Amino acid sequence: MSNNKWYTPAGKSYNFHMDLLQQKHLMIAGATGSGKSVVVNGIMYNALYSAPVDAANGKQFILIDPKRVELCIYKRLPHVLRYASEPEEMIQALQYAMALTEARYKAMQRDGLRLYDGSDIYIIIDEFADLMTTQPKRVKPLIQRLAQIGRAARMHIILCTQCPLAKVIPTEIKVNFDSVLALHTATAQHSRNIISVAGCELLPPYGEGYYQRPGKPLTHVSEIPLFDDATLQERVAWWTDQTRTTPPRFLRRIWPEQDCKIQLTI
Ligand SMILES: Nc1ncnc2c1ncn2[C@@H]1O[C@H](COP(=O)(O)OP(=O)(O)O)[C@@H](O)[C@H]1O
Ligand SMILES: [Mg+2]
Repeated sequence: MSNNKWYTPAGKSYNFHMDLLQQKHLMIAGATGSGKSVVVNGIMYNALYSAPVDAANGKQFILIDPKRVELCIYKRLPHVLRYASEPEEMIQALQYAMALTEARYKAMQRDGLRLYDGSDIYIIIDEFADLMTTQPKRVKPLIQRLAQIGRAARMHIILCTQCPLAKVIPTEIKVNFDSVLALHTATAQHSRNIISVAGCELLPPYGEGYYQRPGKPLTHVSEIPLFDDATLQERVAWWTDQTRTTPPRFLRRIWPEQDCKIQLTI
């Protein structure tokens, strides 16, 4: 399964991972081994693929990787504002995201805008439970605030979790996730916790899921594409090469200058 397209029952083709990348906040939930990290890698691949073609589409990332191995291949990319895997670093990365959100709100107030005019920043959290258990008292308010106010500032959260029980994802946080990709779960109860109905327990161990988007019915998705390590490495190497040879001008073309300034003031 290395096809990058996703076909609906009506035969219409989507670029599945690109579609996931368009959501405001996205929760990817499913049992261990159900393919959450595979989906995140697909999202990264698509973001890396689209940016050079269309400068206005340049996406940036803050990567939080409690397992330390899932997202580390991306850590030196110019798209990545912060990569964090140590407990204190992860908190700092969230604080940085919050500071960036506030700076963007100031810019919006100044310019009389309701939606920030600049690049989208995705805060990707692989294994939210691991992050939440490190320091719940500090993590919860940061995530909750980011989920509540982030979207107008084009700050989006993509969060992976095994089972969104209230103690892992408090309701105040969960309600702000308008999109959900539910993968295989161990039990019907886990499925209900994720998409309010049973069914995920009947999915194959990986490669299929249910996708909930705002205002759309729950959709069954099949043949979720897998990008193998060599394909991902190749894309990362391409970017590393590009930025080594032509750094500042190249990056400015992709990310508007006001964003660079905001980053420098933090
Ligand atoms: N869509 C898929 N297509 C093919 N293989 C997959 C797919 N999703 C998962 N797998 C297989 O399952 C393994 C575990 O997936 P992973 O994303 O690491 O699970 P999780 O992050 O949910 O624990 C992968 O290494 C891969 O071998
Ligand atoms: Mg994983």
